[in-house]
Amino acid sequence: MSERVNRQILLVQKPTGKLGAEHFAMSEAAIAEPKDGEALLRVRYISLDAANRAWMHGATYRAAVEPNTVMAGGGIAEVVASKAPGLAPGDIVFGDTGWQDYVTVPAKHLVKMPKLDPMTHLLSVYGIAGLTAYFGLLDVGKPKAGETVVVSAAAGSVGSIVGQVAGIMGCRVVGIAGGAEKCHWLTSELGFDAAVDYKDGAMFKALRAAAPDGIDVYFDNVGGDILEACLAQMNNRGRIACCGAISQYDGVPSAHGPRGVPGLIVVKRLVMQGFIVMDFMDRRDEALRDLQAWVAAGKLRVQEDVIDGLENTPRALIGLLAGENRGKRMIRL
Ligand SMILES: NC(=O)c1ccc[n+]([C@@H]2O[C@H](COP(=O)([O-])OP(=O)(O)OC[C@H]3O[C@@H](n4cnc5c(N)ncnc54)[C@H](OP(=O)(O)O)[C@@H]3O)[C@@H](O)[C@H]2O)c1
Repeated sequence: MSERVNRQILLVQKPTGKLGAEHFAMSEAAIAEPKDGEALLRVRYISLDAANRAWMHGATYRAAVEPNTVMAGGGIAEVVASKAPGLAPGDIVFGDTGWQDYVTVPAKHLVKMPKLDPMTHLLSVYGIAGLTAYFGLLDVGKPKAGETVVVSAAAGSVGSIVGQVAGIMGCRVVGIAGGAEKCHWLTSELGFDAAVDYKDGAMFKALRAAAPDGIDVYFDNVGGDILEACLAQMNNRGRIACCGAISQYDGVPSAHGPRGVPGLIVVKRLVMQGFIVMDFMDRRDEALRDLQAWVAAGKLRVQEDVIDGLENTPRALIGLLAGENRGKRMIRL
């Protein structure tokens, strides 16, 4: 195995402000042979997630990413060699592969995946993004037909699925996204009823016009000012599914949180609930059945943004944080 070289991207410095290419460096290492209970993997696709940036701030639902270690990240990989029961060469798995060509990991940290064409769907609609959208919307947001659902980062990997699933549930769907072009794409291609450009300067008013009957479910991917605007327009007994806070990840978080907490939550009897997709993994098959049926019926469009080359991973993450992506962004190795 040692004749092959493992290219790795290290986080060499934790950013104190905005993430830049200077925080990463390419390195090379030997490929470790698997020990008992481990598998050696060839990484095929690396998932780019807003959370990659959040992990640099400190420990969350996982340990923080530390300087001079391989940058962490989920990936789809092929088993090359295995000393673990239940895993054989050629098997496809999902795990925290990190940003590298090869990785040797304990099999207990891997999830065996079906062989699917295209394989990329294992990271998008049938991966963390699809499951997050599914459980966050349906279990936490609990939308009912005829209600108004608003989702932020609506053109991103999670948001684009949330909006479409809310439409399938018979809701009025409003997406919040950056730029007129993305907003047009949400309504013309993904079937959203309306879209609000939060970079336009008059977001509060535009949201009022897009959701004239108020908001029943807000799926929050961003936190900050957008959460504040939505809070103020929630209907009584509305639900806010707190999925993430991307507006706070890259740079110095704002000095104060959204106004209206807890006042508006009390007065409007709102339920505001955070969730982590991993909590729902015992019900993964149920979600996959629905997602697959919707994709097959042409009701759920899968939007992917695939970039080639390990060396482009830092740039691809920096671009995702700046809103370059539509749908699920990933790196093909
Ligand atoms: N709770 C869970 O288990 C779980 C699991 C997966 C993901 N998440 C969360 O889901 C959210 C979406 O993550 P993702 O990885 O799927 O990313 P993504 O939505 O594919 O991409 C991020 C998008 O966020 C938007 N954005 C960036 N900065 C923003 C800002 N300051 N204000 C508003 N929008 C901004 C950008 O689009 P624009 O052009 O519209 O700005 C960008 O395209 C994140 O908060 C992530 O942490 C949570």
